[in-house]
Amino acid sequence: MRQHDFEDFHDDNPSRRREARSRRRGRLDEPEPTRRGRLTEGERVRLAKLRDDAYTERQLPDGADRWSTWDDAEHGPLPRPDWVVTELAAVDTDLGVLKTGKEADVHLLRRGLPGGTGTLVAAKRYRSDEHKLFHRDAGYLEGRRMRRSRENRAMAQRSAFGRNLIAEQWAVAEFAALSRLWTLGAPVPYPVQRNGTELLLEFLGEDDGTAAPRLAQVRPDPEQLRDLWFQATAALDLLAAEGLAHGDLSAYNLLVHRGRLVVIDLPQVVDVVANPGGVEFLARDVRNLAGWFHGRGLGEDVTNTGELLAELVSAAGLE
Ligand SMILES: Nc1ncnc2c1ncn2[C@@H]1O[C@H](COP(=O)(O)OP(=O)(O)OP(=O)(O)O)[C@@H](O)[C@H]1O
Ligand SMILES: [Mg+2]
Repeated sequence: MRQHDFEDFHDDNPSRRREARSRRRGRLDEPEPTRRGRLTEGERVRLAKLRDDAYTERQLPDGADRWSTWDDAEHGPLPRPDWVVTELAAVDTDLGVLKTGKEADVHLLRRGLPGGTGTLVAAKRYRSDEHKLFHRDAGYLEGRRMRRSRENRAMAQRSAFGRNLIAEQWAVAEFAALSRLWTLGAPVPYPVQRNGTELLLEFLGEDDGTAAPRLAQVRPDPEQLRDLWFQATAALDLLAAEGLAHGDLSAYNLLVHRGRLVVIDLPQVVDVVANPGGVEFLARDVRNLAGWFHGRGLGEDVTNTGELLAELVSAAGLE
């Protein structure tokens, strides 16, 4: 026995004795083992979590802004158009702002597998900034209030939490309206998904990212003008037959995509049967729409708003 071993052996300080034993085994820097043999349940859970974390933190491919949010979102109606990207390995890339508004910002987004061409979608994100008040909040949200009073109070007090809830309710309402109308065959963008305050919608525009113009921006010739008017009234008819009015119809909430009129911006869609002011909502949509067409030179004999309103009221079963 060498001298220092003998000394260790006789050392009556326990921690020094442990250290000496470790030194003899040649692994002073290694932690003491916490287990032997097979993995304990706790250890298995810990390792699985480590692996999971490593998985979720896998690096986004260059240029991408996030992984596809498809998995966590509410999905649009079936049958799903074949251009909808459902792969979980897809990424979303923000290509810029299409329009910022009072209540929402609309971005152009590309979703696709890394390296692929992907699909363009419009991302409408409802805002919940402190200084913004939905001009549509007052009347429209009545009757849609959540039952839970804590959430009602938060919304009434406009706390950050409450504002976010309001914004999310608008997103939920618009997604439901679009899903219902798309299923009926109405000219609306296909609602791809909703996640919190964000909607992803079919992008109405060209492959190079140019968005379809709003009706307010187009200068149609007389024949196109008539055609657009009849497309608009057909859409109103379809809504009315479902007991609905758009509620905020204008030349800014209609897009013209390759000659086809598409209705957008539907969070405040009004149930004209349940709402005591239902007929007035129908009348206002007709007035706003016809006003723009008259301004562009379409004759009042063509628009015949009195007859149109009577038709919508009857389609909605209100007389
Ligand atoms: N699916 C879409 N495809 C292409 N462009 C779109 C689409 N949805 C919205 N946009 C563009 O974004 C603008 C704003 O959309 P929308 O009207 O739904 O939001 P908003 O918050 O009500 O905006 P605003 O306050 O201007 O009315 C539209 O006028 C249109 O130019
Ligand atoms: Mg709008």
